[in-house]
Amino acid sequence: MMATSPLVPTIDDANLHYQSGFGNEFATEALPGALPVGQNSPQRCPYGLYAEQLSGTAFTAPRGANRRTWLYRIRPAAMHRPFRRIDDGHLVSDFSEVPATPNQLRWDPLPMPAGATDFVEGLVTYAGNGDPHAQTGCGIHLYAANRSMTDRVFYDADGELLIVPQQGRLRLVTELGVLLVAPREIAVIPRGVRFRVELPDGPVRGYVCENFGAPFRLPDLGPIGSNGLANPRDFLSPVAWYEDRGGAFELVAKFMGHLWAAEMDHSPLDVVAWHGNHAPYKYDLARFNTIGSISHDHPDPSIFLVLQSLSDTPGVDTIDFVIFPPRILAMEHTFRPPWYHRNIAAEFMGLIHGVYDAKAEGFQPGGASLHNCMSGHGPDAGTFEKATAADVSKPDYIRDTMAFMFETRCAIRPTAHALESPQLQPRYHECWQGLKKHFDPTRP
Ligand SMILES: [Fe+2]
Repeated sequence: MMATSPLVPTIDDANLHYQSGFGNEFATEALPGALPVGQNSPQRCPYGLYAEQLSGTAFTAPRGANRRTWLYRIRPAAMHRPFRRIDDGHLVSDFSEVPATPNQLRWDPLPMPAGATDFVEGLVTYAGNGDPHAQTGCGIHLYAANRSMTDRVFYDADGELLIVPQQGRLRLVTELGVLLVAPREIAVIPRGVRFRVELPDGPVRGYVCENFGAPFRLPDLGPIGSNGLANPRDFLSPVAWYEDRGGAFELVAKFMGHLWAAEMDHSPLDVVAWHGNHAPYKYDLARFNTIGSISHDHPDPSIFLVLQSLSDTPGVDTIDFVIFPPRILAMEHTFRPPWYHRNIAAEFMGLIHGVYDAKAEGFQPGGASLHNCMSGHGPDAGTFEKATAADVSKPDYIRDTMAFMFETRCAIRPTAHALESPQLQPRYHECWQGLKKHFDPTRP
């Protein structure tokens, strides 16, 4: 049963409150005076709460990169029965199970599950690289679910979760508060933060990048200046919210690639107040200030970078989260769709809604594609013919689209499940087979 204190809000989506800013030192309390003043761990905390630190980076990480949060909670996180292994479902973190392929791959949308399936049960690993042990790389998952989690709470010790809803809103009820996330918004749940996923609209589908490495950050802007791309104030973190609820709860952990579950006799979402910067957040991709060419030629897609996970090599990110949002293409004398390319980076793409401008057909909302390190790709034959004949003296308005890419430094290794999936399009390569030979050595 929910505690009936009038000071405790029930989850009323219309009255959810957020704190604005990226990586800020937030301070929030669901009860007045619950946050200790002037120190983190007083001898006795207000309201009889326990103080607990959750650190998301090494204690000694430089100040600008340091992430930690102090939690003031009804019971400490340590209070649960022993974990036992449970079925991993379709979650995989060992990406060496089958040889990685250089083929271009594309998948139809993940079908909705036949039986009752919650968010964790509905995660299907398509690909990944690196290793949670080494704290580098990522797991790339799609999800399809139709059941809210109620007495089941999840955390991921292997990485932070970048969630990209494609269909249906998610209510992310976390230790640090509640985020309501709709398609076109993204959410990030930091490593270790406990949460359950409720489905206020029914069935949901989307994508998850599980980042094993350094937490996502906003990129530096260089000559772009002090504004543009994703602006910090558009990132929203929850305010403190808690439930004081007893009963049979299951705490599910993803730890070193596998799922574990522990019984608890109370909800672990019992944090009454917190301060710190290791906190969940959401961001509306429509707020991205898109920058592009206004003369000629097509900039590298790094111009569309929303979030990055830094590697130990300057300028070489472990993961880039890049979007292809609505935009105006004004450059003249230019082939306006993305050019043909082969990159050292590997590119896993998804489509949230609309049409992606480099493909005439076959890439559907909810679908996915993978173009790996040095595998050639680019516009299909239909798009090439259209773009080379287009009138580029006038701007193109690309309005109905929102595609994204998880771009990684290392090659992306698909799972056996993804390669055997009935959603894999066996004829994807044919979209380039119709490209005509235009070469004529007598006509410069
Ligand atoms: Fe590409």
